[in-house]
Amino acid sequence: MSSAPTLEQLPQQQPVAYSDQELPAEVILIRDGQQVAAWLNICPHQGRPLNYAPNKFLQTPDGYLMCAAHGATFNMQTGECVNGPCIGASLRAVPATVNQQGQIQLSAPEPYNPTAN
Ligand code: FES
Repeated sequence: MSSAPTLEQLPQQQPVAYSDQELPAEVILIRDGQQVAAWLNICPHQGRPLNYAPNKFLQTPDGYLMCAAHGATFNMQTGECVNGPCIGASLRAVPATVNQQGQIQLSAPEPYNPTAN
């Protein structure tokens, strides 16, 4: 388990990149009120990072996260691709909790198993 930024350090509804050597890849943190969603920064289309520059992510005007490579758009709360070349696929969730002090705790995601539903 690793310590990420505190909830108060994150802007609302804006992707923030976070790296930690205990995690298998860079993580995208997205604050939604007093909750946080965390996704591996790996697009399910071709495995590229979603950002176009360090910690720079595209968002659509209606609040979706967009992969800079080919324009796949993702629901920031569910991680599901809702438009683009990998529609129906999902970003890999990183288990995230917020403790009473507002510290975000991240755990390594389950190993990828393409045959599991
Ligand atoms: S790698 Fe993300 S849309 Fe192609």
